[in-house]
Amino acid sequence: MKIIDNIAELKKEIALLNGSVGLVPTMGALHNGHKSLINKSVSENKNTIVSIFVNPIQFGANEDLDKYPRQLQEDAKLCESAGVNIIFAPKVSEMYGDDKNNLTLICPPYFAVDKLCGKSRPGHFDGVCSVVAKLFNLTKANKAYFGQKDAQQLFIIQKMVRDLNFDIEIIPCPIVREFDNLALSSRNQYLSTKDRADALNISKALFNAKKMVGEGIKQTRAIIDASLKIMENLDVEYIEFVDKYTFEFQQEVNENTIMLIAARVQDSNTRLIDNINL
Ligand code: PAF
Repeated sequence: MKIIDNIAELKKEIALLNGSVGLVPTMGALHNGHKSLINKSVSENKNTIVSIFVNPIQFGANEDLDKYPRQLQEDAKLCESAGVNIIFAPKVSEMYGDDKNNLTLICPPYFAVDKLCGKSRPGHFDGVCSVVAKLFNLTKANKAYFGQKDAQQLFIIQKMVRDLNFDIEIIPCPIVREFDNLALSSRNQYLSTKDRADALNISKALFNAKKMVGEGIKQTRAIIDASLKIMENLDVEYIEFVDKYTFEFQQEVNENTIMLIAARVQDSNTRLIDNINL
């Protein structure tokens, strides 16, 4: 496995690759969720590239860019044992020069970003799409693997690929959970013991919603009320229901509904997201 930190060398190595290329874009601090994406790419492609880049242009001014976990050595071990061929881990200056405030950006359409995470994180998805587009161009990957935990991100990237005719297949991968249903996230590292216990109420609310729907309840208002009770020890940012094909909000659940939650735990003020297919 090669660890590459510059674009010139990446291009040289990619020119030498034979066969299909799978890309797993990450910000590092890899966990079993990332591992599942990597394993899928390794099983489906001759070559797998993992990018590890804490992308500054997708963080807002008061967000956790500085404290975001950076652990390249541990990440490299996980990648090596999973059969990754190349880790691409560039510095910010390698990706953006000294011009990161004057970049040409990809701005996803308003209807996709004026809600959910895009609403509370203005500019976040411009930063995500722009870096992902760069990674697609640099790696010339045939397939790219994204987790369904970031459901809005996945929807927006799929739309970008269709709208801009990127020659790449996007492979959505299921959410990976701990034994007690906490969705894996690099930000779980911030959680105190109390935070972690409180955070479990997010997945509890989602699984309870699925149960309510199974019992015939379709009105989102009733599900929201029950969810708020379960999450009373959290600062809930949103509980929303969208159609998985259009990301339009829904008042009534049907077979295409995804329920999404964003909430902050109180000790560390960590913002967590999770979702479930109802
Ligand atoms: O999901 C992430 O980790 C990031 O948003 C991504 C896709 C790697 C872009 O920086």
